[in-house]
Amino acid sequence: MARNSVPPPAINPHLANLAPYPPGKPIEEVQREYGLESVIKLASNENPNGPSPRALKAMAAVAGEMHLYPDGSGFYLKAALAARLGVAPAELILGNGSDEIVVFLALAYLRPGLELITSDHAFVRYRMAAELAGAQTRLVPMKDMRHDLKAIAAAVGPATAMICLDVPCNPTGTIVARRDLTTFLKKIPPRVIVVLDQAYHEFAAGDPGYVDGFALRAAFPNLVVTRTFSKAYGLAGLRIGYAAARPEIVNDLDRIRPPFNTSRLAQAAALAALDDAAHVRRTVQANARGLAQLEKGLRALGCATWPSRANFILTDLHRNGNEVFQTLLERGVVTRPMGGYGLSSCLRISVGAPAENRRCLAALKEVLSAQPTAN
Ligand SMILES: Cc1ncc(COP(=O)(O)O)c(C=O)c1O
Repeated sequence: MARNSVPPPAINPHLANLAPYPPGKPIEEVQREYGLESVIKLASNENPNGPSPRALKAMAAVAGEMHLYPDGSGFYLKAALAARLGVAPAELILGNGSDEIVVFLALAYLRPGLELITSDHAFVRYRMAAELAGAQTRLVPMKDMRHDLKAIAAAVGPATAMICLDVPCNPTGTIVARRDLTTFLKKIPPRVIVVLDQAYHEFAAGDPGYVDGFALRAAFPNLVVTRTFSKAYGLAGLRIGYAAARPEIVNDLDRIRPPFNTSRLAQAAALAALDDAAHVRRTVQANARGLAQLEKGLRALGCATWPSRANFILTDLHRNGNEVFQTLLERGVVTRPMGGYGLSSCLRISVGAPAENRRCLAALKEVLSAQPTAN
């Protein structure tokens, strides 16, 4: 029988509507597609300062060991993180990006008949992870682009098994106040896992209103805090993140975790990057300047913005965001359209180097003056 006359295998019914995550367009692809020489990517919240030189050196030092599997337990990295964060190694799990840990959590604690709660404009990977586990997602509308913690607490029902909150939130960049988060956590039944995703922690840590999830863990054993080396540490390409949770939760996740989910290179680089506080500090300072530059420029163009504590900014263009995204792309500026987040007139722009931010704003000025507003 010809191969194409054989019916394809049937995917699990609960995965039938799950679309692949649309990543930011890679620079090489845009160069090829549009015949452009110079392309800037402000689409994936990467670090324009690159990795720490210490991380590069550490990777070079282990390059000759690539015939060996990594240490599946991540012993040294976990020990360093534990010392840094004031937790026991048994309370930590490493992931191939923090994204992978969210999938472990969903597979461990969600199933058909159970429910995840998150905000309508929160990071879309949460609802995708829930779908992977066959669970439903309840999306609670945000209030002025912030998680509406009262409404989320009120939405908790008997089927709720997990809540995911990103603080700072991607794509809105907003945070929730310390007091509101504590009040919220007190209302959540302990059987419900609360995932506090702090992928952008280092950028927000200087804000007095921001709460470090590690400060809350002792009081709330159902709290899982996730962090990553992809953002402030500039190691997105290596894929390494971590989470802290009570040891019983870490044990459950370890059953799902593939044995060698973080590579030898990634563990070495992350360990070295942890020690380079100056690189993180420079990154955070440059980011604050870049955010101010983008915010000022966007406001001058008549676009709305929200206060971002991350390394990107959400802006409402009052026009079809996908069309603006496309026209910017043709000019070699890659941003992120927000239709998938239900924000069709918005773009998310990652903070780049100063010249990249300038180029983005200049291109946007040209594009907006040529495209009338929708209302
Ligand atoms: C809120 C949020 N959480 C998690 C991630 C995933 O990060 P990682 O690279 O660690 O998988 C991202 C990436 O953009 C993010 O925005």
